[in-house]
Amino acid sequence: MTSPLPPVGQRPDLLRMEAVNKTFGSDIVALDNMNLNVQSGDFISLLGPSGCGKSTALRLISGLMQPTQGRIEWQVPHDPGDLGVVFQEPTLMPWATVAQNVWLPFRLRGKSYAAVRDDVREALALVGLDKFEDAYPRELSGGMKMRVSIARAMVTHPKLILMDEPFAALDEITRFKLNNDLLQLKEKIGCTVIFVTHSVFESVFLSDRIVVMAARPGRVQAELTVDTPYPRSEEFRTSSEYAQQCRAASDALQDAMGMPA
Ligand SMILES: Nc1ncnc2c1ncn2[C@@H]1O[C@H](COP(=O)(O)OP(=O)(O)OP(=O)(O)O)[C@@H](O)[C@H]1O
Ligand SMILES: [Mg+2]
Repeated sequence: MTSPLPPVGQRPDLLRMEAVNKTFGSDIVALDNMNLNVQSGDFISLLGPSGCGKSTALRLISGLMQPTQGRIEWQVPHDPGDLGVVFQEPTLMPWATVAQNVWLPFRLRGKSYAAVRDDVREALALVGLDKFEDAYPRELSGGMKMRVSIARAMVTHPKLILMDEPFAALDEITRFKLNNDLLQLKEKIGCTVIFVTHSVFESVFLSDRIVVMAARPGRVQAELTVDTPYPRSEEFRTSSEYAQQCRAASDALQDAMGMPA
C-alpha cells in the first residue's frame, strides 16, 4: 500500500459478520453469536483452542458454508477474484507445474494461460519462486509448496485473503521467514487478511487485531489490538514490546480456555 493505513477501527468497512451462529446437527454449536467487523487493510488473527470454530468462521466467510443464523455481508462490491484462500495443506495439483497451479483461479473463470501469464509470473516473483515456474510440486520443499499456494491465492489480487493455519506444518525457521514475507506481500498487494492460528507468537507478530475465541460453544472471547506499526522486522520479534503483547494475548487465550493465567 502506498499511503499508511489509518489506525485499527478507522478503516473502511469490508465485511461484516452479525450475530452469526453455526450449528451442526441438533446440538454442536460451532459458533455462537459471532460479530466481526472486518475493515480494509486489517490483519486479523483468529486465535483459540482446538474446536472453537476458527475454521468454521473462515468457511462461512468464504461462502463455502451458510450460517444457521445471522448474516455475513460484504460492505463493498466484490467478485470471486476478490477472495483468496490458503489452507494448512498446500493442496497443489501434483500433475501440474507450479505456473499451472497458480493459474487455477483464473482457469476456473475461463481465462487462458496466455491471457494471464504476466499475472502468474508476477505472483510467483512476489513469493520468490520466479525460477520455479516449470517445476512440479514434488520437486519443492514444504515451505516452497506453501509459497505456491500463497501465490495462487493472491494471483487475482484479492481484497480479502483467508488463511487457515497455513504455516502450522512447517519448521520454525521456515515459518518465521514466511511470516516476514507474508507481511511484505500484504503491503504490496494492499489486501486484508484473516489468519487462523494456535500460536500466540505468530498472531502478535503478524496481526494488528487478535480475535481470541473460546470453545463449547465457539465464540469470540476478547479482542486485542497490536498497534506496533508495520513494517515489522526481526527486531520486533526480540523487542520487549513484542514480549508484552505476547503476554497479553497469552493471558487472554488462557482466560478463553478457562485456565488461570
Ligand atoms: N462439518 C461438520 N460437521 C459436524 N461438526 C463439525 C463440522 N465442522 C466442524 N464441526 C464441529 O464444530 C466445532 C468447531 O470446529 P472447527 O473446525 O471450526 O474448529 P477449529 O477452531 O478450527 O479447531 P482446530 O483448531 O482443531 O482446527 C467442533 O466441535 C467441530 O467438531
Ligand atoms: Mg481448524
